[in-house]
Amino acid sequence: MNIAVLGTGKVGSALGTRLAASGHHVVHGSRTPGGEAGTVGQREAVASADVVVTAVPGTVVLSTLEEIGEDVLGEKIVLDPSAAVTPQLTMAHPGDSVARQVQARFPRARVVKTLNTMNFTIMVDPLASLPRATAFVSGDDDAAKTVVTGLLADLGWPESSVLDLGGIDTALATEHVAPLFFATARALGTVTFALSVSR
Ligand SMILES: NC(=O)c1ccc[n+]([C@@H]2O[C@H](COP(=O)([O-])OP(=O)(O)OC[C@H]3O[C@@H](n4cnc5c(N)ncnc54)[C@H](OP(=O)(O)O)[C@@H]3O)[C@@H](O)[C@H]2O)c1
Repeated sequence: MNIAVLGTGKVGSALGTRLAASGHHVVHGSRTPGGEAGTVGQREAVASADVVVTAVPGTVVLSTLEEIGEDVLGEKIVLDPSAAVTPQLTMAHPGDSVARQVQARFPRARVVKTLNTMNFTIMVDPLASLPRATAFVSGDDDAAKTVVTGLLADLGWPESSVLDLGGIDTALATEHVAPLFFATARALGTVTFALSVSR
């Protein structure tokens, strides 16, 4: 599968490396292409992709995709792991979600929210890090969610650890665990934990 990873930070690097190791063709799109990392421009990265990973600050996901353009984004799958928080770590869009905004702005794109409720180290090594972690999935397009669940499997997530919450509106719920995540991290003194469902 051709995957464009937007953002060359912690999440983009971790997901890109692991997905490439699983046999996918990964292209990193950056605001500053070139250099040793072999990144290309964001629009160029997305042009040849089946799946676009928005590993950029949640507050700029929409503007980043707008700059890339609806003509290039088309019906591609958007795997959105972003969190939109203020510098004070409060919700940047209380009562709304980045994933819903992107889906509303780009109705042909197939947005799937996932992996936003955990630290990046767990995203790419769940069983070794925390065997009972949960990866929540939200999206309107079932076929896109099947593709993303397959990518989660390539990252090490067993099917039993993936919880499909329903449509893209449910991304509001997982995006709003950010304050709980940060409060828990402060209380535990670590980010190596997961918000998971026990039943
Ligand atoms: N770190 C985690 O453990 C974690 C966990 C859950 C969710 N998330 C979410 O995942 C996304 C990526 O997180 P991250 O930790 O990888 O962030 P990061 O290390 O700060 O990297 C973000 C990357 O986004 C790109 N970018 C594009 N526009 C930007 C802008 N206006 N300001 C800053 N960077 C911009 C940059 O790459 P270029 O310079 O190459 O364009 C940058 O390296 C965020 O939405 C974050 O909230 C992170």
